Amino acid sequence: MIQIAVFASGRGTNLQAIIDAMKTGNIDGEIKIVISDNPEAYALERAKNNQIATKVFHYKQYKSKREYELDIIQFLKELKIDLIVLAGYMRILSPTFIREYPYRIMNIHPALLPSFPGLNAQRQALEYGVKISGCTVHFVDEGTDTGPIILQEAVKVDQSDNEETLSNRILQFEHQILPRAIQLFASGKIEVYKNKVYFKE
Ligand code: GAR
Repeated sequence: MIQIAVFASGRGTNLQAIIDAMKTGNIDGEIKIVISDNPEAYALERAKNNQIATKVFHYKQYKSKREYELDIIQFLKELKIDLIVLAGYMRILSPTFIREYPYRIMNIHPALLPSFPGLNAQRQALEYGVKISGCTVHFVDEGTDTGPIILQEAVKVDQSDNEETLSNRILQFEHQILPRAIQLFASGKIEVYKNKVYFKE
Protein backbone atom coordinates (compact mmCIF):
# COMPACT_ATOMS: atom_id res chain seq x y z
CA MET A 1 0.00 0.00 0.00
CA ILE A 2 1.41 3.37 -0.92
CA GLN A 3 1.84 6.11 1.67
CA ILE A 4 0.34 9.43 0.62
CA ALA A 5 0.75 13.00 1.84
CA VAL A 6 -2.09 15.34 0.88
CA PHE A 7 -1.36 19.08 0.80
CA ALA A 8 -4.40 21.36 1.14
CA SER A 9 -4.84 25.06 1.86
CA GLY A 10 -8.62 25.35 2.00
CA ARG A 11 -11.95 23.62 2.45
CA GLY A 12 -10.67 20.20 1.33
CA THR A 13 -13.50 18.73 -0.74
CA ASN A 14 -10.92 16.97 -2.92
CA LEU A 15 -9.28 15.58 0.22
CA GLN A 16 -12.74 14.32 1.23
CA ALA A 17 -13.17 12.62 -2.15
CA ILE A 18 -9.84 10.81 -1.63
CA ILE A 19 -10.83 9.75 1.91
CA ASP A 20 -14.20 8.47 0.64
CA ALA A 21 -12.56 6.51 -2.18
CA MET A 22 -10.24 4.86 0.33
CA LYS A 23 -13.15 3.91 2.56
CA THR A 24 -14.93 2.19 -0.31
CA GLY A 25 -11.74 0.34 -1.26
CA ASN A 26 -11.18 2.27 -4.48
CA ILE A 27 -7.65 3.40 -3.61
CA ASP A 28 -4.97 0.97 -2.43
CA GLY A 29 -3.19 3.54 -0.34
CA GLU A 30 -3.14 5.29 2.97
CA ILE A 31 -3.09 9.01 3.76
CA LYS A 32 -0.21 9.19 6.20
CA ILE A 33 -0.47 12.95 6.70
CA VAL A 34 -2.45 16.02 5.65
CA ILE A 35 -0.20 19.07 5.40
CA SER A 36 -1.40 22.65 5.26
CA ASP A 37 0.10 26.11 5.14
CA ASN A 38 -3.15 27.47 6.62
CA PRO A 39 -4.05 26.63 10.22
CA GLU A 40 -7.69 27.58 9.49
CA ALA A 41 -8.06 25.19 6.54
CA TYR A 42 -11.23 23.10 6.89
CA ALA A 43 -9.25 20.29 5.23
CA LEU A 44 -7.51 19.83 8.61
CA GLU A 45 -10.89 19.21 10.30
CA ARG A 46 -11.81 16.68 7.65
CA ALA A 47 -8.55 14.83 8.33
CA LYS A 48 -9.08 14.87 12.10
CA ASN A 49 -12.67 13.64 11.67
CA ASN A 50 -11.20 10.65 9.88
CA GLN A 51 -8.35 9.97 12.33
CA ILE A 52 -5.73 11.17 9.85
CA ALA A 53 -2.66 12.98 11.21
CA THR A 54 -2.21 16.63 10.28
CA LYS A 55 0.67 19.07 10.27
CA VAL A 56 0.70 22.82 9.65
CA PHE A 57 3.86 24.44 8.30
CA HIS A 58 3.61 28.18 8.98
CA TYR A 59 5.32 29.88 6.07
CA LYS A 60 5.94 33.10 7.98
CA GLN A 61 7.90 31.31 10.69
CA TYR A 62 10.72 30.56 8.25
CA LYS A 63 13.52 32.85 7.06
CA SER A 64 13.13 31.77 3.45
CA LYS A 65 11.08 29.59 1.12
CA ARG A 66 14.11 27.30 0.91
CA GLU A 67 14.15 26.66 4.66
CA TYR A 68 10.39 26.21 4.69
CA GLU A 69 10.53 23.58 1.98
CA LEU A 70 13.60 21.79 3.39
CA ASP A 71 11.71 21.33 6.64
CA ILE A 72 8.72 19.84 4.82
CA ILE A 73 10.97 17.56 2.74
CA GLN A 74 12.72 16.25 5.84
CA PHE A 75 9.33 15.59 7.46
CA LEU A 76 8.08 13.72 4.36
CA LYS A 77 11.26 11.62 4.18
CA GLU A 78 10.82 10.53 7.79
CA LEU A 79 7.30 9.37 6.95
CA LYS A 80 8.53 7.51 3.84
CA ILE A 81 5.94 9.15 1.62
CA ASP A 82 5.52 7.62 -1.86
CA LEU A 83 3.12 10.16 -3.37
CA ILE A 84 2.28 13.79 -2.68
CA VAL A 85 -1.17 14.98 -3.76
CA LEU A 86 -1.79 18.71 -4.05
CA ALA A 87 -5.52 19.06 -3.39
CA GLY A 88 -6.17 22.79 -3.43
CA TYR A 89 -2.67 23.67 -2.23
CA MET A 90 -2.13 27.29 -3.11
CA ARG A 91 1.65 27.58 -2.96
CA ILE A 92 4.04 26.95 -5.80
CA LEU A 93 6.68 24.35 -5.01
CA SER A 94 10.24 25.24 -5.96
CA PRO A 95 12.40 23.13 -8.29
CA THR A 96 14.38 21.97 -5.22
CA PHE A 97 11.22 20.42 -3.80
CA ILE A 98 10.01 18.95 -7.08
CA ARG A 99 13.37 17.29 -7.81
CA GLU A 100 13.03 15.33 -4.54
CA TYR A 101 9.84 13.69 -5.87
CA PRO A 102 10.05 13.38 -9.67
CA TYR A 103 6.68 12.24 -11.08
CA ARG A 104 5.54 11.62 -7.53
CA ILE A 105 3.66 14.89 -6.99
CA MET A 106 0.13 15.15 -8.43
CA ASN A 107 -1.99 18.28 -8.72
CA ILE A 108 -5.67 18.82 -9.47
CA HIS A 109 -6.37 21.90 -11.58
CA PRO A 110 -9.84 23.30 -12.41
CA ALA A 111 -9.35 23.76 -16.18
CA LEU A 112 -8.37 21.76 -19.23
CA LEU A 113 -4.62 22.32 -19.25
CA PRO A 114 -2.63 23.67 -21.00
CA SER A 115 -5.44 26.28 -21.08
CA PHE A 116 -5.83 28.57 -18.10
CA PRO A 117 -2.95 27.64 -15.79
CA GLY A 118 -2.37 29.47 -12.52
CA LEU A 119 -4.91 31.04 -10.21
CA ASN A 120 -8.66 31.53 -10.83
CA ALA A 121 -8.76 29.10 -13.74
CA GLN A 122 -12.58 29.01 -13.86
CA ARG A 123 -12.72 32.84 -14.03
CA GLN A 124 -10.09 32.83 -16.78
CA ALA A 125 -12.20 30.34 -18.77
CA LEU A 126 -15.36 32.45 -18.39
CA GLU A 127 -13.54 35.65 -19.32
CA TYR A 128 -12.09 34.01 -22.43
CA GLY A 129 -15.50 32.68 -23.44
CA VAL A 130 -14.60 29.02 -23.99
CA LYS A 131 -17.58 26.71 -24.46
CA ILE A 132 -15.91 23.74 -22.84
CA SER A 133 -13.67 23.73 -19.79
CA GLY A 134 -13.04 21.01 -17.23
CA CYS A 135 -10.37 19.70 -14.91
CA THR A 136 -6.96 18.06 -15.10
CA VAL A 137 -4.85 15.85 -12.86
CA HIS A 138 -1.19 16.15 -13.76
CA PHE A 139 2.24 15.46 -12.35
CA VAL A 140 3.96 18.57 -11.09
CA ASP A 141 7.09 19.67 -12.91
CA GLU A 142 9.09 22.86 -12.63
CA GLY A 143 6.64 25.01 -14.59
CA THR A 144 3.26 26.27 -13.39
CA ASP A 145 0.66 23.59 -14.25
CA THR A 146 2.80 22.30 -17.13
CA GLY A 147 3.59 18.74 -16.04
CA PRO A 148 2.52 15.47 -17.73
CA ILE A 149 -1.26 15.10 -17.85
CA ILE A 150 -2.69 12.00 -16.16
CA LEU A 151 -6.48 12.43 -16.51
CA GLN A 152 -8.88 15.11 -17.72
CA GLU A 153 -12.64 15.56 -17.80
CA ALA A 154 -14.52 18.06 -19.96
CA VAL A 155 -17.37 20.23 -18.66
CA LYS A 156 -19.68 22.36 -20.82
CA VAL A 157 -19.78 26.06 -20.06
CA ASP A 158 -23.33 27.51 -20.13
CA GLN A 159 -23.83 31.12 -21.09
CA SER A 160 -25.66 31.63 -17.80
CA ASP A 161 -22.66 30.37 -15.79
CA ASN A 162 -20.87 32.53 -13.29
CA GLU A 163 -17.63 31.65 -11.52
CA GLU A 164 -19.48 29.89 -8.72
CA THR A 165 -21.78 27.73 -10.83
CA LEU A 166 -19.01 26.71 -13.22
CA SER A 167 -16.58 25.99 -10.35
CA ASN A 168 -19.17 23.81 -8.62
CA ARG A 169 -19.87 21.82 -11.78
CA ILE A 170 -16.18 21.30 -12.47
CA LEU A 171 -15.61 20.31 -8.83
CA GLN A 172 -17.90 17.28 -9.16
CA PHE A 173 -15.57 15.95 -11.86
CA GLU A 174 -12.44 16.82 -9.87
CA HIS A 175 -13.78 14.52 -7.16
CA GLN A 176 -13.94 11.69 -9.70
CA ILE A 177 -10.64 12.03 -11.54
CA LEU A 178 -8.35 12.76 -8.59
CA PRO A 179 -9.09 9.45 -6.77
CA ARG A 180 -8.89 7.61 -10.11
CA ALA A 181 -5.47 9.11 -10.87
CA ILE A 182 -4.22 8.20 -7.40
CA GLN A 183 -5.36 4.60 -7.87
CA LEU A 184 -3.65 4.42 -11.27
CA PHE A 185 -0.44 5.48 -9.52
CA ALA A 186 -1.02 3.15 -6.55
CA SER A 187 -1.49 0.15 -8.83
CA GLY A 188 1.71 0.93 -10.73
CA LYS A 189 -0.11 1.54 -14.01
CA ILE A 190 1.43 4.93 -14.84
CA GLU A 191 4.48 5.32 -17.02
CA VAL A 192 5.97 8.65 -18.09
CA TYR A 193 7.90 8.80 -21.34
CA LYS A 194 9.10 12.06 -22.92
CA ASN A 195 6.79 14.07 -20.70
CA LYS A 196 3.68 12.07 -21.58
CA VAL A 197 1.73 9.71 -19.38
CA TYR A 198 0.97 6.20 -20.65
CA PHE A 199 -1.07 3.53 -18.91
CA LYS A 200 0.23 -0.03 -18.67
CA GLU A 201 -2.30 -2.73 -19.54
C1 GAR B 1 -10.23 22.98 -6.44
O1 GAR B 1 -11.16 23.48 -7.37
C2 GAR B 1 -8.87 22.79 -7.10
O2 GAR B 1 -8.97 22.35 -8.43
C3 GAR B 1 -8.32 24.16 -7.03
O3 GAR B 1 -8.67 24.62 -5.74
C4 GAR B 1 -9.90 24.02 -5.37
C5 GAR B 1 -9.75 23.40 -4.00
O4 GAR B 1 -10.98 22.93 -3.52
N1 GAR B 1 -6.90 24.18 -7.21
C6 GAR B 1 -6.26 25.13 -7.86
O5 GAR B 1 -6.81 26.10 -8.35
C7 GAR B 1 -4.75 24.93 -7.95
N2 GAR B 1 -4.17 25.92 -8.80
P1 GAR B 1 -11.06 21.94 -2.30
O6 GAR B 1 -10.23 22.58 -1.17
O7 GAR B 1 -12.51 21.89 -1.96
O8 GAR B 1 -10.49 20.62 -2.72
